[in-house]
Amino acid sequence: MGLNTIYESNQKQVLLILSAVLSIQSCVFAFEFPEPITRCHFADEKCMIEQAHKLFEKAATGVPERDIPALEPMKLDKIEMLGDKNSALKIDLIMNDVEIHNYTKARVISIKGFSKNLSKPMKLVSQNINPRITIKSKYKINGNILVLPIRGEGELTMVLDNVKTRFSTTLKVEKRDGKHFLSGDTIKLETQMDNVHIDMTNLFNGDKTLSESMLQVMNENWRLLSDDLTPIINKALGNKVKELLQKFFKDIPYEDYFLTD
Ligand SMILES: *[C@@H]1O[C@H](CO)[C@@H](O)[C@H](O)[C@H]1NC(C)=O
Ligand SMILES: *[C@@H]1O[C@H](CO)[C@@H](O)[C@H](O)[C@H]1NC(C)=O
Repeated sequence: MGLNTIYESNQKQVLLILSAVLSIQSCVFAFEFPEPITRCHFADEKCMIEQAHKLFEKAATGVPERDIPALEPMKLDKIEMLGDKNSALKIDLIMNDVEIHNYTKARVISIKGFSKNLSKPMKLVSQNINPRITIKSKYKINGNILVLPIRGEGELTMVLDNVKTRFSTTLKVEKRDGKHFLSGDTIKLETQMDNVHIDMTNLFNGDKTLSESMLQVMNENWRLLSDDLTPIINKALGNKVKELLQKFFKDIPYEDYFLTD
């Protein structure tokens, strides 16, 4: 063995060691979704829907490694609907300590819009169905519904059946260290539901006759309240969901979202 060959084989070893070190490093630094969520092939919608269900299930009890609290129930601070909406609905409704139950039980129907073109914003659209969502809060109400005066302060429960949600978001693409990162820009939630049942404790200072007849009127005309209230709730929910998605995806380069083979 000549000196040159020894030198060459040493060089080869150094290269091998170097590339082993590098590949270990890239294993450490390559982004992984929190377990049990896995990557999908690009445009494999069925796989993405499965991951969304796993994410919902995981988020129900929280994702501490991503600083996401338990979302069952999901908590919102305050929802306010103030002023006259139309001739039939003139109320101020303030909801505090809002809890949304079953939000993570949604069945995702579609997820569309992931793109390979990173030179423009991405628009994602997802649709889901939730058999039953319950909203609970403290409430204060004052005003008129169908010219009937309403006032009270107590606990509110709204049960929403068969809630269909269309969720659309525009994501900005930012480049850092040669990689692309998505961040939520706008988010919009639109919902339709089959029925809403409303219950409020302590209407009219607990007057049983007055509150029972008012609740009956409200439930027979549930769309009256929900048509104006759901967009406000959806806006608060949208902001919350945007914040949660930001936390979940913030350090993940888009290059690492999908399987490459
Ligand atoms: C990507 O989007 C930009 C901006 O809309 C467009 O000009 C370009 O042609 C697109 N590239 C591809 C490969 O589609
Ligand atoms: C949650 O969803 C399940 C299944 O649809 C339903 O049986 C249950 O009543 C819901 N719970 C609440 C608090 O809405």
